[in-house]
Amino acid sequence: MDRGFIFACTEKSEKEMLKTLIFTTNRIYGHKVFAIREGDLVFLYNLDTDILWGTFKAKTSGQYDKNLKIFEGKYPYYVIVEPIGEIKKIEKASKIFKKLGISWRDILTEEGAKLISHIIEKNTYDININRRVKIVDEDYRPPIFSTTLWDYPKQSYGDTPKGNNKYPGVTPAFIIYNLIHRYTSPGEIVCDPMAGSGTTIDVCKEEGRRVIAFDIVPTRPDIIQADARALPLKDNSVDMIFIDSPYGDNIKYNYHPKNIGNIPASDERFYDELEKVMVECYRVLKSGKVLAWLIGDQWAKGVFIPVGFKIYERLTKYFVPVDIVCVARRNQSSNTPFWHSKAIQHNFYLRGFKYLIIVKKDDKEKHRRKKKKKDLKINWRYYER
Ligand SMILES: C[S@@+](CC[C@H](N)C(=O)[O-])C[C@H]1O[C@@H](n2cnc3c(N)ncnc32)[C@H](O)[C@@H]1O
Repeated sequence: MDRGFIFACTEKSEKEMLKTLIFTTNRIYGHKVFAIREGDLVFLYNLDTDILWGTFKAKTSGQYDKNLKIFEGKYPYYVIVEPIGEIKKIEKASKIFKKLGISWRDILTEEGAKLISHIIEKNTYDININRRVKIVDEDYRPPIFSTTLWDYPKQSYGDTPKGNNKYPGVTPAFIIYNLIHRYTSPGEIVCDPMAGSGTTIDVCKEEGRRVIAFDIVPTRPDIIQADARALPLKDNSVDMIFIDSPYGDNIKYNYHPKNIGNIPASDERFYDELEKVMVECYRVLKSGKVLAWLIGDQWAKGVFIPVGFKIYERLTKYFVPVDIVCVARRNQSSNTPFWHSKAIQHNFYLRGFKYLIIVKKDDKEKHRRKKKKKDLKINWRYYER
């Protein structure tokens, strides 16, 4: 075993879960279910009675079935478990969580899972914690962000690499992780037209999404060579597109003549070529589905170029805006004392964030209904200041 997972249930659902030995949950915790591997320890926590049941072992990795029979398909994320010995319980579990400084939502380390198992087995509140033992595994999966400010310290996470962190301009994997959990269901197909070192492929595979990736110069066999302006895909064929395009010619990816990263951001041609990529994305994306575009501004030799705004402008010629996320930049080469003091001395700023522009291909039918709604008169109230 490697880790521990706590499923929540209610008075109503507890019986069914203990009888079927299928522990289920909804979309909110879907990402947590996809982190479960066969052999991990699993517990069941009744939110109504504050009782914790254990110990179970995962017989499968985390699964998804939108037609799952139990609970009328309301909880499609699940794992099949088997008890390890006799099923036991401990009451007032929240007292234990408090003592350990954890929440049932956390992913537990091997030591943490064993400790919880021991507590249930011995039915004890007398917990001696060695403070050096890590109970929660914060590094296994990134958080799912609820605000428009995303900040995570590392390019990758978990047991396996995501993309190649030596690749120039590699995408931080937590961005793709957050996007696919928000905008796709397991089994759906994600496309990355400028895949670089393949971060999107690695994240999607681990999270049970199908993925198709292209680049003008593929770095690995599972990336197909194609120009993002002419993708070998049918119209309306993918469920989400993630794209981390060049931000100008600041990074030398390769010398391929069709590499858009050879055109400077100061040249309008750069945006014209990326607009062709947008049109192609629009063609292959299914109606109502999301395209997420990661982009950063440029400041070089005393000139500021708002690349993000320019890309947003072009994108919204075709797509409907969903949101803009600010992604904190942490691991760039200018993050050194030398560059920090230069920025203050010469009164310029180092790039501190990137834009993650989220747009969607409009659903024509929905759009029509929305327009109709728009005609409704809104009675605004005005207040004296
Ligand atoms: C910022 S990198 C992508 C990084 C990638 N997401 C990763 O995690 O490694 C941009 C990529 O766009 C590719 N590219 C540039 N022009 C292209 C084009 N016309 N068609 C397809 N890919 C292109 C470059 O080769 C480069 O790999």
